[in-house]
Amino acid sequence: MISFPKLIPLLTVFIFSCSLPLAISDGTDTDREALLCFKSQISDPNGALSSWTNTSLNFCNWQGVSCNSTLTQLRVIALNVSSTGLSGSIPPCIGNLSSIASLDLSSNAFHGKIPTDLGRLGRISCLNLSINSLEGGIPGELSSCSDLRVLGLWNNSLQGEIPPSLTQCTHLQQVVLYNNKLQGSIPPGFGTLGELKALDLSNNALTGDIPPLLGSSPSVLHVDLGGNQLTGGIPEFLANSSSLQVLRLKQNGLAGKIPAALFNSSTLTSIYLNRNSLFGSIPPG
Ligand SMILES: *[C@@H]1O[C@H](CO)[C@@H](O)[C@H](O)[C@H]1NC(C)=O
Ligand SMILES: *[C@@H]1O[C@H](CO)[C@@H](O)[C@H](O)[C@H]1NC(C)=O
Ligand SMILES: *[C@@H]1O[C@H](CO)[C@@H](O)[C@H](O)[C@H]1NC(C)=O
Ligand SMILES: *[C@@H]1O[C@H](CO)[C@@H](O)[C@H](O)[C@H]1NC(C)=O
Ligand SMILES: *[C@@H]1O[C@H](CO)[C@@H](O)[C@H](O)[C@H]1NC(C)=O
Ligand SMILES: *[C@@H]1O[C@H](CO)[C@@H](O)[C@H](O)[C@H]1NC(C)=O
Ligand SMILES: *[C@@H]1O[C@H](CO)[C@@H](O)[C@H](O)[C@H]1NC(C)=O
Ligand SMILES: *[C@@H]1O[C@H](CO)[C@@H](O)[C@H](O)[C@H]1NC(C)=O
Repeated sequence: MISFPKLIPLLTVFIFSCSLPLAISDGTDTDREALLCFKSQISDPNGALSSWTNTSLNFCNWQGVSCNSTLTQLRVIALNVSSTGLSGSIPPCIGNLSSIASLDLSSNAFHGKIPTDLGRLGRISCLNLSINSLEGGIPGELSSCSDLRVLGLWNNSLQGEIPPSLTQCTHLQQVVLYNNKLQGSIPPGFGTLGELKALDLSNNALTGDIPPLLGSSPSVLHVDLGGNQLTGGIPEFLANSSSLQVLRLKQNGLAGKIPAALFNSSTLTSIYLNRNSLFGSIPPG
């Protein structure tokens, strides 16, 4: 029979080594709790998150979770649960994954509003909530995500204006918001995003002019504003761009003369201007 004095040090070692990954850092603890909170507040009919259990300490092995592991902490840097059949509202506790750089919840059945807590993700670079049933507005709080490069919210039922503050995310490269019910005008700040490559706002209910500076970024490749109620003319910068490859402005209320420079572009491979009130001549070349 083992006496108590021998058992106690053994137990101490066991408990200490088991709790080590939890004891080393607050960030590690918070990330694990945030993931368990996320799971507990959604519905997972296919058991896609069955590896996410409160008895498994190393959340870096959980389905869809990627970590940055250092000697002192494990932090979630990516969560990808795309196309896993999840539904419910997006739980606000996801805003506690403060080291996350990429969050992909696309192609699921999430509904309700986009939680403003996503604005707390200060390191996020890629946010993809496309192909869900999200409603309400795009939270202006996302403007706090200063590293945001890719924003995909297409195929949802989002309403209201595109928050002008979003253009404070100066590293934005891809903004894909098509097939929603967005209203109001396109924030002029989209014209001054120097790293912008692709802007797709098609099939919404946007009104007003195309921002005059749109196309002035030397990196812009793809602009699709088709299927809205935009008015005014085609801005000169868009027509003169030396990088633009795809320009789709079809089905709007655009008027005025088609800028001649548009047909001079050596980069454009695709132009759609149909169903507007534009005029002008198409050069023989
Ligand atoms: C773990 O989860 C189960 C089922 O959700 C719950 O009954 C149990 O209390 C949890 N245990 C801890 C330690 O949180
Ligand atoms: C991983 O964490 C270390 C230490 O905090 C940090 O220096 C490094 O940039 C992180 N790497 C990534 C890919 O986030
Ligand atoms: C998420 O996973 C899907 C399917 O495995 C993949 O197609 C997609 O590119 C991933 N998303 C990111 C941001 O890596
Ligand atoms: C985030 O984490 C803190 C500390 O663990 C906790 O108090 C708070 O309730 C969490 N926030 C959400 C929205 O879950
Ligand atoms: C988002 O996810 C969808 C579906 O998984 C994918 O097609 C798309 O390329 C991703 N990125 C953006 C910016 O929407
Ligand atoms: C996006 O929505 C349109 C209708 O609004 C639908 O026809 C299309 O299949 C959807 N695309 C995806 C990838 O779900
Ligand atoms: C666009 O190009 C035309 C013709 O080269 C030029 O007259 C005009 O000033 C240019 N506009 C801008 C905004 O660069
Ligand atoms: C078209 O390009 C030529 C050669 O680069 C230039 O001389 C001319 O001004 C351009 N025309 C317009 C309308 O931009």
